[in-house]
Amino acid sequence: MNKIIIANWKMNPATEKEAEKLLRLTKKQLPILKDKTIVVCPPFPYLFLYKNFKSKKFLLGAQNVSTEEKGSYTGEVSPGMLSSLGASYVIIGHGECRARGENDSLINQKVLNLLKNDLIPVLCVGERDRDTEGSYLSFLEEQLKQSLNGLNKNQIKKIVIAYEPLWAIGGQAKREATKEEFTEIKIFIKKILSDMYDPNTASSVPVLFGGSVNSINARYYVSEGGADGLLVGRDSLDADKFEAIVRALD
Ligand code: PGA
Repeated sequence: MNKIIIANWKMNPATEKEAEKLLRLTKKQLPILKDKTIVVCPPFPYLFLYKNFKSKKFLLGAQNVSTEEKGSYTGEVSPGMLSSLGASYVIIGHGECRARGENDSLINQKVLNLLKNDLIPVLCVGERDRDTEGSYLSFLEEQLKQSLNGLNKNQIKKIVIAYEPLWAIGGQAKREATKEEFTEIKIFIKKILSDMYDPNTASSVPVLFGGSVNSINARYYVSEGGADGLLVGRDSLDADKFEAIVRALD
């Protein structure tokens, strides 16, 4: 399976000028790799810059989308708008969006809206804490089942899942996840998908890891932990660091 490496810029950088510079440097430094799909997800206002940087090196993604396709929805952005700017992937259900009130039912509507409009949802799931009784597993199961509610076999094959434990992401991360912790979840997710669909279908869905990924641990999660790719936050804001992560998987 092609490895997928996604840069999640979150609400960065502060100005269009800096965003342009970061896109330019990212494009300059990334190698062209046939067996990897690189996706850069800037904030909405900078997506239009992509038309100046179109390149075989990376694709464009967005960080959220509306549940609606068009109409009077102040502040919302439709899938069609994202496609028209060249985006092909959209991060959905990120822990930071869930923390501000997005629930599984809303996320499910967004996933369906993206699929209807031929965009690839990158569905994020992840528990807040790990407990010794394993209730984080039932929490994850619920997140997955509700977010994927109503998707048929063909649709599920078009999505990407990113496991992002909240305790391992962003500047407030408590610690890095171990490769065993990722592997356990990947197997668990595949089992749920296998029960919901069938083993063949489950095996075709990529499961990425995200949370404090850097050039040192990237290989560890992918080669040893079995991740089908990575979702990178902080270290995607520095073209040198992002390049080092991509090269580490070579
Ligand atoms: P991080 O963020 O790499 O800065 O931990 C990852 C994410 O939240 O997607």
